[in-house]
Amino acid sequence: MTAPALVVLGAGLSQRPLIRRAKERGLTTCVVDGRTDRPAAADADTFVHQDFSDVPGTIAALAAAGVEALGVCSMGSEQAVVPGARLAEALGLPGLPVTAALAATDKVVQRGLYRDHGVPSAGFAPARSLADALAAYDVLGPRVIIKPTDGAAQRGVSDVQSRDEVASAVEHALRESRSGELIVEEHLSGLEYTVNAFVLGGVFHPVSVTLRELAPAPAVGICVAHRHPCGRSDEEIALIVDVVRRAALAIGIDAAPVYAQVRFGADGPRMIECGARLGGGSDAQLAQLVVGVDLMETVLDAALGLLDGENLAPRAMPEPHGHSRFVIPTAPGRIVRADEGAVRELPGVHDVGFFHHAGQIAPPLWSASGRLGVLLMTAASDAELDARTTHALAALDVIIEPMEPAAAAAAWNDQVAREREGLA
Ligand SMILES: Nc1ncnc2c1ncn2[C@@H]1O[C@H](COP(=O)(O)OP(=O)(O)O)[C@@H](O)[C@H]1O
Ligand SMILES: [Mg+2]
Repeated sequence: MTAPALVVLGAGLSQRPLIRRAKERGLTTCVVDGRTDRPAAADADTFVHQDFSDVPGTIAALAAAGVEALGVCSMGSEQAVVPGARLAEALGLPGLPVTAALAATDKVVQRGLYRDHGVPSAGFAPARSLADALAAYDVLGPRVIIKPTDGAAQRGVSDVQSRDEVASAVEHALRESRSGELIVEEHLSGLEYTVNAFVLGGVFHPVSVTLRELAPAPAVGICVAHRHPCGRSDEEIALIVDVVRRAALAIGIDAAPVYAQVRFGADGPRMIECGARLGGGSDAQLAQLVVGVDLMETVLDAALGLLDGENLAPRAMPEPHGHSRFVIPTAPGRIVRADEGAVRELPGVHDVGFFHHAGQIAPPLWSASGRLGVLLMTAASDAELDARTTHALAALDVIIEPMEPAAAAAAWNDQVAREREGLA
């Protein structure tokens, strides 16, 4: 006996709203994850314990569980992009083309496509060793970014401002790379923006443009808030959107969301990267509040082959000033308490969530894991948003026993290793 169900790849916290939404639509859901301790494992009607990066294994596990896939989807998980495309293709379901999935998750392939299609981007060179990286530095320096080609969540990214820093940056990137392949890029200056969009039938539908506010150095590229409106003129926003449209089409994204970062320097907007997924930082929920487009619903529609593009047009909302604002600990350390307190009762607060919990380690802000949680907020003006945010942050009940960054990083690595072991 098989029962039809929507297959969701990944049981992380970010999948939870998607599963909830699928259920509200009356869909039966099946979540696939290689770990049993993930927060959304128990949310779905069926949980299949299987590493979804093994696509044949996933097909077999779904069959063994009696699940007939109606569609395949995921929210904000970079790891799920290629397996999701392959799984959909193997099952004859709608999905992102596999070639686009591969390009969207490999920074070297992606930059090569931008170069070939004339999309404004950064000079780059692939690297596997210190010697490669030094040679690239000599061409692209004096300021470069070194990062894994297959990275996500800002893991292993370094901002290198002198030749002496190349060696430690290469080490850092190699530690975080699964493939052992790195990219050295020309550093792009300017403020950073996120474009959320959807490509359907080859047509690019922009949904929202947000300012990506970054944590100060030594953090590299860690987002503190996605803020709407983004603060640029309509003409500049049109330029930002156009660069992302050209990037998404160069990659070949279709039947999928776009989550892209752009830096706006003196010579206009240039691509940082373009993902073929929803953002992981409540971007879809924020877009719904500030421009009235329900990206989660569109992901479900697309997975089921029902999307027609009509519900992708932004509209005026009562409180268009909003952000997903990450909760950043004042220092890393052991979490004594991380509770929402009475924050949900405050004006403008739509949601709050914590990524780490009491007893766990809050690592340094060296990757996106250093963020403790996220608040989703709106207001009628920028000033009101700032005032509401100050109140909301103060209302959270957070106590952290501080640790030296290096000690916190070591404790965090231990915690991650123990979690993996416990489940092996
Ligand atoms: N070439 C670059 N120039 C300037 N900043 C960059 C560059 N590449 C990455 N960054 C910064 O680092 C962040 C993470 O890099 P990205 O390539 O998006 O990796 P990830 O996939 O880990 O998010 C970017 O959002 C940006 O802030
Ligand atoms: Mg990125």
